[in-house]
Amino acid sequence: MATTDEGAALRVEFDALLGVCSKLNEARPVEELLDELLRQARLLTRAEAGTVYVAEGGKLRFVCAQNEARRDLDITPRVDERRFLTGTLGGKTIAIDETSLAGHAAWRREALRIRDAYELPAGESLRFDPSFDRMTGYRTRSMIVAPLVDRSAQVVGVLQLINRLDEAGIVAEFSARDMQVVEGLASMAALSVRNAQMRDELYRSHLDTILRLSTAAEFRDTETSQHIQRVSLYCETIGRWMGAPRDWTRLMLFASPMHDVGKLGVPDAILQKPGKLTEEERLIMQRHTLIGAHILKGADNELLRFAEKIALSHHERWDGAGYPHRLAGTEIPLEGRVTAVADVFDALTSKRCYKPAFSVDWAFEEIAKNRGTQFDPEAVDAFVRARPEVEVVFDAYRPAQPVEESQTPVNPIMY
Ligand SMILES: [Fe+2]
Ligand SMILES: [Fe+2]
Repeated sequence: MATTDEGAALRVEFDALLGVCSKLNEARPVEELLDELLRQARLLTRAEAGTVYVAEGGKLRFVCAQNEARRDLDITPRVDERRFLTGTLGGKTIAIDETSLAGHAAWRREALRIRDAYELPAGESLRFDPSFDRMTGYRTRSMIVAPLVDRSAQVVGVLQLINRLDEAGIVAEFSARDMQVVEGLASMAALSVRNAQMRDELYRSHLDTILRLSTAAEFRDTETSQHIQRVSLYCETIGRWMGAPRDWTRLMLFASPMHDVGKLGVPDAILQKPGKLTEEERLIMQRHTLIGAHILKGADNELLRFAEKIALSHHERWDGAGYPHRLAGTEIPLEGRVTAVADVFDALTSKRCYKPAFSVDWAFEEIAKNRGTQFDPEAVDAFVRARPEVEVVFDAYRPAQPVEESQTPVNPIMY
């Protein structure tokens, strides 16, 4: 039976675990969950440092590192909402096999408690990779390496705790009790990480459906469906550089592909007309904003309400000379103001049936020139600041047409 002291200690531990549990159940990106898991595991075991990996595509992807003694070695997780569209995150990966301690723990699905990483027990196939220590001058000694295994025995990640400190701040061994705490934490965390991954998968499949439906509308008048992917990524980027909250930028990423869904209601003869539109045709073309809003209206979910606002307002102009309602300035929803910049930039840099593709340099100049007239000045400023990121997107989803170097002074947006 536990003594009073032991009972009190157990209660503290139990309270701490409950606290961690509720933190890990918050709906957050996988990377942030793992960062929090590492912080809490280090607190509970007095570990000086640690790293976390997430299992993806049969490998372990490095997510973050924390080191109390060497803050210069802290690596915070990179959370990128655009992963829903691009599907890739990059980052260092290691194999799930016996060539590393983290790989070993994931491969065998068992936690390791190590006294000294440089004096591994003989006869076991454990291998410690000292290259990181050599590079940084940090000395790894005691370790707990725990796989995060979900209920269906799938490894979702690996938690590595490094160098337990005793009361005097000297590196000591992790205890059997530490190991129990970490294993408990790891199984709770595995569930949260799996939930977060399933949420991501759901987002990805929503986005895939949205992109396919939006492509159906867009495909009729553009050479490529990549227009909507680029616009979506530009919108998310502009929002982020304007300092918008992450929920907002994610909604922009998902909703902006639907900006031209109303083109479903515009006749092909107008959409695909190579020359200038007549006044009557131009008015019909402009109705795609109202048709789009009509298609999307009345939804009870936030994403479609967002998309409705964008469809309706992405051709309004800051100076009030846009359509369909000639709104001006901040009367235009921010969602529409941001999409306007992204959509026009993409139209400029893409070949359309009525115009060639213009260079990125020229398109940036054109957007900047229309700052405060056609476009929201703040959205333009954010777009210009984000130029390196915009160019990465442009290159990754490059339009397949040659760029027109001879430049025309006329803004080629014809409607
Ligand atoms: Fe449009
Ligand atoms: Fe568009």
